[in-house]
Amino acid sequence: MPYRVVIGNNKGGSGKTATTVNLAAALAEASHRVLVVDMDPQANASRRLGRPFDPAEPVATTAEVVKAGADQEGVAAAAVVACGWDGTYAEHIDLIPSRFDLENRVSEAGVLGAVGRLYTALSGVDDDYDVTLIDCPPSLGHLTQLGMAAATHALCTVEPEFDGVDGAVRFRDFIAKHGPSLRQPGAAAELRMAGFVVTRVRSQMTAHSYQIEGLPDLFGDLLWSPQIPERAAIKDAADIPTSLRTLGTGPAREMAAVFAELAKQLLAVQR
Ligand SMILES: Nc1ncnc2c1ncn2[C@@H]1O[C@H](COP(=O)(O)OP(=O)(O)OP(=O)(O)O)[C@@H](O)[C@H]1O
Ligand SMILES: [Mg+2]
Repeated sequence: MPYRVVIGNNKGGSGKTATTVNLAAALAEASHRVLVVDMDPQANASRRLGRPFDPAEPVATTAEVVKAGADQEGVAAAAVVACGWDGTYAEHIDLIPSRFDLENRVSEAGVLGAVGRLYTALSGVDDDYDVTLIDCPPSLGHLTQLGMAAATHALCTVEPEFDGVDGAVRFRDFIAKHGPSLRQPGAAAELRMAGFVVTRVRSQMTAHSYQIEGLPDLFGDLLWSPQIPERAAIKDAADIPTSLRTLGTGPAREMAAVFAELAKQLLAVQR
C-alpha cells in the first residue's frame, strides 16, 4: 500500500496548503518522489506548484478523477502531470491538479460508496512514489472525506489560536469516530493520525504562546517539531510561486530547513 497522507484541519487558512507544498519541496530536495493530489476546489496547491488552471489548455483534474473513480480503478493516472517548477522539482514532484468545479462532486456525497471514489481512482497509480500528499479544503465534508478514505495517514496543521486548535481537535475526533467506516475494501488498515504540525506561529503574540502551552496535553507524542513560524518568505514563495530554496534569501533558506526537518518526521512515521 502506498504511503498516502491527507492534510487537513476544520479551520481555513491554517497553513494546510503551505505545509503540503513545502513538504513536497523538501522531499524532492532529498530526492524522494512525491505525488500531490489537490482536493481543494480553490486549487491553491495546484497554482503554487506552478500548474494554475488554464482555460486555453484544459487538463484533467481531481474533478474528473473523482467522477470517473465511480467505476474506473486507476483512472487518476491520466491526470498526473509534473509540477510546474524547474529541475529536480519537476523530476520529483507530480501533481493531480484541481479546478473550481471539483465543488460539483459534493453533490455526490449521498451516493452509496461515493466516498471511496478517490481511493478507487488512485489504485495502482502512486505505488512508485515515496509519499502521496492530499491537500484538503477547510472542512470535514465530502471532499475531505474522499481524501481521508484514500489515505493511510492524516496530518493536521494547527494554527495556535483558539479556532485553529478547535479545528484541529475536530479533525482528530472526526477521524477517530469515522475513520473505521471510511476504510475501503482492500485497505491494509484504518486511517491513522501521523501528527500535528504547529503553523503560522507568531511567537511575540501572547495568545499564540498560551495556546502552544496547551498543545502537548491535547496531542501528546503526535505533536511534531519544529513549529513553522509566520514568515514573509513563506507567503512570498507561495505568491510567486516558487520553492523556498529557489527564493534563496536567508529567511527563505531558514524556512526550507524547517520543512526539511518536518519531511524527515513524515518519512519516519511508522507504517
Ligand atoms: N508560516 C507562514 N508564514 C507566512 N504566511 C503563511 C504561512 N503559512 C501560510 N501562510 C500564508 O497564509 C495564507 C493561508 O495559508 P494556506 O493557504 O497555506 O492555508 P490553508 O489552510 O491551506 O487555507 P485554506 O483553508 O483556504 O485551504 C496564504 O496566503 C499563505 O501563503
Ligand atoms: Mg489550502
